[in-house]
Amino acid sequence: MEKRQLGRSGLEVSAIGLGCMGMSAAYGAAMDRKEAITLIRSAVDRGITFFDTAEVYGPYANEELVGEALRPVREQVVIATKFGFDIENSAGFARKPISQPAHIRKVIEGSLKRLQTDYIDLYYQHRVDPDTPIEDVAGTIKDFIDEGKVRHFGLSEAGAATIRRAHAVQPLAALQSEYSLWFRDREKDILPLLEELGIGFVPFAPLGKGFLTGKVDTAQTFGDDDFRSKQPRFSAENRAANQVFVDVINGVATSKNATAAQVALAWLLAQKPWIVPIPGTTKLHRVEENIGATTLELNADDLAQIEAGLAGIRPQGDRYPPANAAMAGR
Ligand SMILES: NC(=O)c1ccc[n+]([C@@H]2O[C@H](COP(=O)([O-])OP(=O)(O)OC[C@H]3O[C@@H](n4cnc5c(N)ncnc54)[C@H](OP(=O)(O)O)[C@@H]3O)[C@@H](O)[C@H]2O)c1
Repeated sequence: MEKRQLGRSGLEVSAIGLGCMGMSAAYGAAMDRKEAITLIRSAVDRGITFFDTAEVYGPYANEELVGEALRPVREQVVIATKFGFDIENSAGFARKPISQPAHIRKVIEGSLKRLQTDYIDLYYQHRVDPDTPIEDVAGTIKDFIDEGKVRHFGLSEAGAATIRRAHAVQPLAALQSEYSLWFRDREKDILPLLEELGIGFVPFAPLGKGFLTGKVDTAQTFGDDDFRSKQPRFSAENRAANQVFVDVINGVATSKNATAAQVALAWLLAQKPWIVPIPGTTKLHRVEENIGATTLELNADDLAQIEAGLAGIRPQGDRYPPANAAMAGR
């Protein structure tokens, strides 16, 4: 598979990574562990070298799964994980950010153990902690890099000022934030900044949590353990209103003999050469389908068709409940 560089960090990864969260959390019941291990190893066989997890997924179970699955190929892959939620004292969408240096020093040891490794390739702060100066966080990661425990530093859903301050202390390899055809807010202030500073961008939820693939319709119901049941954008009413995104994507997919998922991912890849989406799936055939996006070239006409089809259309419904939404962009 095509490889991409995350900004000017020197970190090279497959053009599409694999988001592992949904194998253990957020989308209903966890996968059977053996099947999940087989899935991750099959993704490696098909050329994926970039795997995304976090201590909070599960919590802990997803890091354990990723660690076990990738142990035989540890040196050939890039493992990205995240710290920064107070897992012991808060839960669900009400999870509190926490990033005091003493806390990070403690939790990194747990992540290393669960991942069965002595280094983390890319260590992200999951959400900015307003009570801890970002310089303290960046300084702690710098120490980890000096100690050989971490190779690269990342932030998730951070705002422009925070990115600049962190980068001045310890250069960032990547920002991981939501970005897709139905969430483009980061294009205005964040993408130009990343380009200026030479920081890679890892869009999470690149398929709009499944919606942009056209496989989620208004008839689908979500269980309590599926985080989409609490996301306003996924109410049945908003799904009906947002169908226009799927229709526009499908229009291009049909003309390219591709699937909607492939067009949604190829659109992201076409934005910048330092963008690496991490679609999540629990199914091998979809891993293969999503990899197919790396060879789907959207030309200027295709991109213009998407822009024209979605011009002036805003997605209906917030992506998160209010308390959670407030954590983004700090
Ligand atoms: N930094 C953060 O705060 C943050 C937040 C959320 C997620 N993430 C990371 O980003 C990764 C990706 O985000 P995400 O998993 O939430 O959203 P996503 O990748 O946009 O969508 C995942 C959903 O799409 C479905 N899907 C995947 N490929 C498909 C295809 N080809 N056709 C039809 N449906 C398809 C999956 O269902 P099946 O399993 O049934 O295929 C799943 O329901 C996560 O795994 C996680 O590692 C990070």
